[in-house]
Amino acid sequence: MASWKRQTLLALSLAGIFAGLSATARAEDAPGGKQLFMSRTCVACHGRDGSKAILMYPNLAAQNEAYLYEQMKDIASGKRVSGPDARGYPRTQAMKDVMGVVSDDELKTIAAWLAALPSPPVKPGDAAKATEGEAIYAKSGCVGCHGAKGIKPTAGYPVIGGQKKEYLALQIKEIRDGVRNNGRSKLMTAMVKRVSDADVDALSEYLSQVDRSAAK
Ligand code: HEC
Ligand code: HEC
Repeated sequence: MASWKRQTLLALSLAGIFAGLSATARAEDAPGGKQLFMSRTCVACHGRDGSKAILMYPNLAAQNEAYLYEQMKDIASGKRVSGPDARGYPRTQAMKDVMGVVSDDELKTIAAWLAALPSPPVKPGDAAKATEGEAIYAKSGCVGCHGAKGIKPTAGYPVIGGQKKEYLALQIKEIRDGVRNNGRSKLMTAMVKRVSDADVDALSEYLSQVDRSAAK
């Protein structure tokens, strides 16, 4: 048998097994956050534990639960947009495209699971630049909303310590420049107007080296 035929048969029989399973599933077997994260495509982009993401995608582990939920809703509805990735597509677009497969209750379950996950140990980076970034963090007023080391934020605001460097730099610049203006990000826009790209680089280096596990 040609290999494509074997694969089609395998896919059909797996689909049959899954259809049978879901038909017999009862309410008390409702999937948990981890199962949903695996089955609703999230894992493909965000990695098995929400932190081993590919490219410049965010670390979701140990993030604030309410913040996670709001952001998923905003990306799904198109209120949160972003600049382009390397192929020229807005980075939020591919996630927006799959959000139809997740219900509101499932998003809440996923947010609770992600918020409770441990964040992986941070990798050492450029120590001199991190020290510079720490001073800019204090001087620019970030601490007023995101708390000491970016891990003690005002209620409902994001944890930014222990976030991925590339992702941090993109978000700081896009909130500053008004590309991202969903939720409460406008509160921050005026505050970061004078933060230069070089400052963003140092800030991102510093914050990416903070151990997020001290947030709880
Ligand atoms: C096709 C890839 C892709 C898929 C699938 C995907 N995401 Fe995302 N997600 C992204 C990208 C890229 C971003 C960051 C966008 C940006 O840079 O502005 C993001 C951002 C997020 C954020 C906001 C994080 C923050 O710190 O603000 C959350 C929460 C999130 N995703 C959860 C999920 C969940 C839960 C699923 C599954 C239902 C999912 N994502 C599916 C690519 C994806
Ligand atoms: C007045 C309060 C305030 C100040 C000051 C502030 N921020 Fe924010 N920041 C926020 C809020 C609120 C959000 C979440 C916006 C939303 O609801 O989408 C945010 C979002 C972010 C994000 C995106 C997080 C993510 O997971 O996507 C980063 C990164 C960030 N801030 C960094 C900074 C840095 C660095 C500074 C200082 C230069 C700063 N912020 C100053 C309130 C503030």
